[in-house]
Amino acid sequence: MKILVTGGSGYIGSHTSLALLEAGHDVVVVDNLTNSTKTSLDRVQELAGRRLAFHQVDLLDEKGMSAVFEQEQVDAVIHFAGLKAVGESVDKPLYYYHNNVGGTISLLRVMDAHEVRTMVFSSSATVYGASEEVPLIEKMPLDAVNPYGRTKEQIEDILSDVGAADPRWNVALLRYFNPVGAHPSGRIGEDPTGTPNNLLPFVAQVAVGRREKVMVFGNDYPTPDGTGIRDYIHVVDLAAGHLAALEYLARHGGVHRWNLGTGDGSSVLEVLAAFSAAAGHDVPYEFAPRRPGDAAVSYADPSSALADLGWSATRTLDEMCEDHWRWQKDNPQGYASGA
Ligand code: NAD
Ligand code: UFG
Repeated sequence: MKILVTGGSGYIGSHTSLALLEAGHDVVVVDNLTNSTKTSLDRVQELAGRRLAFHQVDLLDEKGMSAVFEQEQVDAVIHFAGLKAVGESVDKPLYYYHNNVGGTISLLRVMDAHEVRTMVFSSSATVYGASEEVPLIEKMPLDAVNPYGRTKEQIEDILSDVGAADPRWNVALLRYFNPVGAHPSGRIGEDPTGTPNNLLPFVAQVAVGRREKVMVFGNDYPTPDGTGIRDYIHVVDLAAGHLAALEYLARHGGVHRWNLGTGDGSSVLEVLAAFSAAAGHDVPYEFAPRRPGDAAVSYADPSSALADLGWSATRTLDEMCEDHWRWQKDNPQGYASGA
């Protein structure tokens, strides 16, 4: 198949584009490069030994997007493009709703006009909000607690309405838990701009000497070691989940929702220990107050993805940390490190 990957030069998009090329699909990436560089795609092509097509277009540019659809004749879309920083979404809600929700509406209109009605969408565990019940199951009510999360919830609603109105749409809503790690080659990985918001990229930058220490947000949660528990999932496992969803959509219509997680939780201190072991030295940290809005514990029930897609995550926390560290060590300044 020929797959259009929006946001394909970003962290998860680059790993998924590689997996698609390796599986024999043709790949067309659309990205406006607000949060990524084209270097990731140069490296994807080098790893795959195959070319992909790249168009620097904003999703909100319907004319530009139509031109891509006219030129490329794609069969399906994997839609990663979006802004994802929770704090920034609180400060700039209109920017987030316009880009994420508006961008998706534009994309859907262009897809419909070109009769491409298969989409795999990047949703997030954030749609479950601050649910205290674990594991999180797809049928639980959604209750996102910040503008970023609400863009995901609203896009899920829009896609559900579109699917209900027209049975020709085949849609997968994939709710990712905490994507971490990097391709084992160390050539592609997560390259956040500015101060990382998420734990793993922050830990990796401390380990490589770019930052002094990790602040552990809260050590008084009702968890065995007092620190927050999350379901970290290797980005290569996550990429494979997208291929499994695409295969499913080739055989089934309708709108489907799946959690993509491991089903296991790890605490912040467990992550620090695993990363220190991978790096071969202790990663310094200090306890700090809880971060507002953080749940104590969040992990997936991934059994639907296994039952429907035959997919499950196989990589361990140690592998996630080893691969994340290899990428950070080989590229201390991310893609700006060069070569
Ligand atoms: P990323 O920022 O690395 O990739 C997103 C890409 O989308 C970037 O390359 C950016 O330049 C592009 N983009 C943004 N707005 C665009 C627009 N209007 N037009 C064209 N391109 C645009 O992020 P990522 O971590 O790879 O995340 C991919 C998707 O997965 C996002 O939708 C994100 O919300 C979702 N997600 C990520 C996580 C996570 O922790 N990384 C967790 C759950 C869900
Ligand atoms: N943490 C720290 N120090 C840091 C960063 C994080 O102690 O510097 C802790 C957090 O308190 C939490 C855990 O590490 O207990 C993981 O935090 P992340 O920010 O990496 O991930 P979250 O689960 O809080 O949230 C992220 C995204 C959400 C998304 C969610 C699941 O920010 O938008 O993953 O996809 F919904």
